[in-house]
Amino acid sequence: MDKDYAKYFVKPSIKDARKRKNEETPTINYDEHFNIKGIGKGKHYHVETYGCQGNEADSETIRGILEALEFTWTDKLEESDLIILNTCAIRENAENRVFGELGRLKKYKRNNPDLILGVAGCMPQEEDVVERILHKVQHVDLVFGTHNIYKLPEYLESVILSKERVIEVYSEEGSIVENLPKIREHTKKAWVNIMFGCDEFCTYCIVPYTRGKERSRSPKQIIKEVQELVDGGYQEVTLLGQNVNSYGRDFTDKNYTFGDLLEDLSDLAIPRIRFTTSHPKDFDVKTIQMIADKKNLMPYIHLPVQSGSTEVLKRMNRKYTKDSYLTLVNKIYELIPDVSLTTDIIVGFPGETREQFEETLDLVKACRFEGAYTFIYSAREGTPAANYEDNVSPSEKKARLLELNKVVNDGYLFGNKRFEGTLQNVLVDGESKHNPEVLAGYTEHNKLVNFVADKSLIGEIVKVKIVEAKTWHLLGEYIERV
Ligand code: 5AD
Ligand code: SF4
Repeated sequence: MDKDYAKYFVKPSIKDARKRKNEETPTINYDEHFNIKGIGKGKHYHVETYGCQGNEADSETIRGILEALEFTWTDKLEESDLIILNTCAIRENAENRVFGELGRLKKYKRNNPDLILGVAGCMPQEEDVVERILHKVQHVDLVFGTHNIYKLPEYLESVILSKERVIEVYSEEGSIVENLPKIREHTKKAWVNIMFGCDEFCTYCIVPYTRGKERSRSPKQIIKEVQELVDGGYQEVTLLGQNVNSYGRDFTDKNYTFGDLLEDLSDLAIPRIRFTTSHPKDFDVKTIQMIADKKNLMPYIHLPVQSGSTEVLKRMNRKYTKDSYLTLVNKIYELIPDVSLTTDIIVGFPGETREQFEETLDLVKACRFEGAYTFIYSAREGTPAANYEDNVSPSEKKARLLELNKVVNDGYLFGNKRFEGTLQNVLVDGESKHNPEVLAGYTEHNKLVNFVADKSLIGEIVKVKIVEAKTWHLLGEYIERV
């Protein structure tokens, strides 16, 4: 393929991505009336997804668009005509994995020169990544970002029919696009985007640059989507946003908050509603009250704290203190006594002292977290913290992570132990990854349970007696259908 000439060549700019407009985002409807509908006929595609649930949801859209173009899914890379990597930029090792994978995919390109290799998602939103792909990873044919997935048909037309290399990344978000087709991964559990982007600018984080300004979808569209999922037999929805607690802040025509959305959605016949992720500074009492009152709002909250030191939190621009976080957690325990809390923590933030790290350890114990995603700080180019002086050695950061994980793991086990001997409702996911004779599912508190029962129960909510707690999962005995 001669791709010296590229039709689209719009590169990202971190500076432009920083801009925030003061107006409500327009909504447009996805237009299916492109004239290349059968372009994927007889062709196989594969999508690899890296990173968060937002990317998983985007991959479902990419798949929906590709199947509307009549591409057929394959698990096998060697028989693919189109491979898209939907990438994550949150930490350096996520990016290294993708560059490693691109190197590995070169051999498939050698065997099949018509194979189209695409890179999508958060990495293309970064200037240095696009430069590197442009000059050093020339076997990539297509690069697009998080704001222009809906233009994929047009890009494929250029790559396939005109044999042009396409690189198009918008730095500023355009509209919210509704009615995009989706191929959902699961038949009973669905992701539902309630908003896009992030306006928080935590100093370590690349997301506000890769995902753009915060934009809330209209409640009407969200309620319609969840109702359609109910009609399709779905049992669980997870509402997605970078800071779901600030949902609706950008509406100019109404006062409608995340708590209001939870209230309206809880009236629908969906058995389980979850949401992620929360920001402690915006988590309001109405939200806590809703979870306490409504049976279909699950008693599980992921509440990233990042650090237990007020001084570090300030330098992270998190806009809350250790004490205000603890006050919020106490309020949550007061109104939802049996809630399960999990969190995210970064160790080795530039300048974090031993004492400040110990404050994090103390906070983890005080909050009784039942799980945590823990990370070593990774500098992201273009973010403020990347310029902070970093005097914590790599070995010290690793040691802090190990020490933290020990405390976190005690919390996991303690959080599982409290369910021993109880009856729990479990949504049966499928066979256990480790043993096909055993079923696996999740409790309302989001605990993984393994138990033996008939496979016809997959996709249903059943009662299970918890007989033994392990650190990472529970063992149960099937009782009955709910
Ligand atoms: N380095 C390490 N961890 C990070 N996170 C976000 N940015 C970084 C970074 N630069 C973590 C935060 C966030 C989670 C999704 O990823 O803990 O909550
Ligand atoms: Fe990143 Fe902070 Fe936004 Fe979360 S709230 S996505 S950590 S900037």
